[in-house]
Amino acid sequence: MLRSRILGTGFVTGQHRVTNDDLVRMMDTSDQWIRERSGVEQRYYVEEGTTTTDLGLGAARKALEDAGVKAEEIDYIVFATMTPDHYFPGCGGILQDKLGLGPIPALDIRQQCTGFIYGLQVSDALLRSGQARTLLLVGAEVHSGFMPWTQWDHLFGGEGPAPTETEKAWNSRFRDRTVLFGDAGGAAILRAVDGDRGLLGFKVHSDGNGFESLYVPSCGFAQRPYVTDKDFLEGRHIPEMNGKQVFKLAVTRMPEVVREVCAAQGVPVQDIDLLIAHQANLRINEMVQRALELPDSKVFNNIQRYGNTTAATIPIALDEARKSGRVKDGDLVCFVGLGAGFHWGAALMRA
Ligand code: UT7
Repeated sequence: MLRSRILGTGFVTGQHRVTNDDLVRMMDTSDQWIRERSGVEQRYYVEEGTTTTDLGLGAARKALEDAGVKAEEIDYIVFATMTPDHYFPGCGGILQDKLGLGPIPALDIRQQCTGFIYGLQVSDALLRSGQARTLLLVGAEVHSGFMPWTQWDHLFGGEGPAPTETEKAWNSRFRDRTVLFGDAGGAAILRAVDGDRGLLGFKVHSDGNGFESLYVPSCGFAQRPYVTDKDFLEGRHIPEMNGKQVFKLAVTRMPEVVREVCAAQGVPVQDIDLLIAHQANLRINEMVQRALELPDSKVFNNIQRYGNTTAATIPIALDEARKSGRVKDGDLVCFVGLGAGFHWGAALMRA
């Protein structure tokens, strides 16, 4: 049986570590609120000028080294992001150039927090159908461009001006979202190999009904021109989110789709050795764990250290889980996620 195996993983974060207390300098928030509601303790932001493909490049190099594979062996790139370097073209091709590769195919995936899971499914299909032999799958995000403040130097502990009271009030308008996100990139190298180990199966879903519960209202071609001064003055370039609605969807759909993927593979949920869920909110993941009746030893979370890094959360968690011995050869690993769109899904892998 030909199965797609993950041969190596790696990740990088933005250069600047920012704690919850650091964010208090920018807006009306507190370490206690952020920890209690989301579990996030710190996140990383890039230095201005570092892009999503730069993070993808750093992660790809680490994954290549981990896999013992040379960059020239990559013959397909799949890149998941919702924060591309440019409106177009996508990040896949830019990363191909940064890696110094020939004109190999490069595909962008736009499934937000479920981007890596959709990316795994597409990669598996490409590998098992023989259209790719050594595939680089990346999930990377630079969310800091969404942030409403301009006083980055002050946030990073420099001498730059602090926000005025008016600016703090503006920043606070978006505090329910901005405190959650961080910048990072994760990558995996995949190859189809004969045997029982590797990706076993997927269940993915999309439902565009109610997509406005989590979306960017401007910077799109539903309006003409696609971005205006008014958008910036009104903050319509910043994601809008109905947090409670997204929370409810996540805690319902994620356990449901884990059960579906396990049923399709004929394995009981209790056989999962490690659940790696998208890291959007520690409270969501705790509720998913309870719904699935999995012990703490079978769940991996690291949102405390990185925040929500959208398409990057799953490869980062997988890399940390593999390298800390939480994933052993032969373990049954389940990935699950839900995000804007709405898109959600789960994948099963025999490590
Ligand atoms: O990966 C993409 C998917 N996204 C998600 O999965 C997010 C899902 N949703 C959530 O994680 C939660 O809904 C949030 C963490 C975003 C928000 O938590 P919540 O318990 O739903 O809080 P809320 O938005 O209802 O706000 C409760 C209170 C409000 O104050 P009042 O009206 O009760 O006085 C907010 O103004 O908390 C206030 N608040 C804050 N206070 C301090 C909102 N954000 C903050 C903040 N700091 N950062």
